[in-house]
Amino acid sequence: MIKPHGADKLRPLLNTDQALVAEAESLPSMLLSSAAAANAVMLGGGYFTPLTGFMNVDDALSVATNMHTTGGLFWPVPVLNLVDDVSSIENHARIALRDPNVDGRPVIAIMDVDNIERLSDEQFETLTKQTFGTDDPAHPGVSVFQAQGRYCVSGPIEVLNLSYFETEFAGTFKTAVEIRDEINALGWETVVAFQTRNPMHLAHEELCRMAMERLDADGIVVHMLLGKLKAGDIPASVRDACIRKMVDVYFPENTVLVNGYGFDMLYAGPREALLHAVFRQNMGATHLIVGRDHAGVGDYYGPFDAQAIFDELPDDALDIEIFAADHTAWSKKLDRVVMMREAPDHSPEDYVFLSGTKVRDMLSQGIAPPPEFSRPEVAEILMDYYRSSDAA
Ligand code: ADX
Repeated sequence: MIKPHGADKLRPLLNTDQALVAEAESLPSMLLSSAAAANAVMLGGGYFTPLTGFMNVDDALSVATNMHTTGGLFWPVPVLNLVDDVSSIENHARIALRDPNVDGRPVIAIMDVDNIERLSDEQFETLTKQTFGTDDPAHPGVSVFQAQGRYCVSGPIEVLNLSYFETEFAGTFKTAVEIRDEINALGWETVVAFQTRNPMHLAHEELCRMAMERLDADGIVVHMLLGKLKAGDIPASVRDACIRKMVDVYFPENTVLVNGYGFDMLYAGPREALLHAVFRQNMGATHLIVGRDHAGVGDYYGPFDAQAIFDELPDDALDIEIFAADHTAWSKKLDRVVMMREAPDHSPEDYVFLSGTKVRDMLSQGIAPPPEFSRPEVAEILMDYYRSSDAA
């Protein structure tokens, strides 16, 4: 099986030892941001192997500018615990980190504090611009990042629980350890990971099928994001139902694993694509599908920037490879989904194009997306959701 990133074995930081849970209550504590809590969940589940905790300012800047830690490990996005008030933990070597996403703010992790450093404005700007390619506060990932504090609290952690994910998404949320074990038990060797934050439409489904066929893969892991998204994106429970239905009806049995991970979407385009690759390698995938505008938002990134960035990496950065997909859409001429570069005789009018916004508008008016865009079974689940009071 493909090795974890930078290690021979996965290093999940989850430790559910009751003595640790008891100790947590006696420690001085700080409340995490949702982003930091999501980092703790990823560290806990082994997805962020071989990291041992939250980065200090030197490492964060080194990762932001050179995509390597000061120790030389390839890592594309700083893993930070930023807060604006450190009065409750100052001068303490061991602290408890509280979860902002669970009622009662229980302790999610214990940290041995290495450092509490205040980021200068210049450092903060470097982290923002290098990670997101912009510091425009209108960018949904940048605005979340900028709302965090300027104190960087770093050090190794032990993770006591995996936040709300195990209960809220029972059966779908999985750790990297669980997925790696499952792949191993199935005996899959070539394994494609599909990152998604959407209900899967036809283009997504066909991308998976194309990757499976062309890589002669043993299986595919549809690995959905279960953490926080920007307003207007479809909730994880609805996406989960759509994806499971589509896989049940349209894929052969025992070729697809459907599961998800607990991380908030960064919308950081190319850098987030690299992070996606790191943690898919950790869960045991040999390939990651990277299509058009992967992890992007608005017009902040070029449509294939998230593929191009992989070409800039040193050879030894990652073992996982990408399946670089062109824009896929329904061809009216051929009556099927095609990659546009493979249909050179087509002009734009030969395709059915529908933007996410257009589809949301249709759904909110009670109009089902056409079969060239969405499977009817998926459209039905989405229509139900939009009919319910939950949808905005
Ligand atoms: S995200 O991580 O990129 O935000 P999303 O669910 O929107 O997730 O897309 C999942 C994957 O499918 C990404 O690799 C994306 O680039 C790819 N993708 C989505 N739609 C298309 C399309 N029409 N053509 C090519 N690739 C696509």
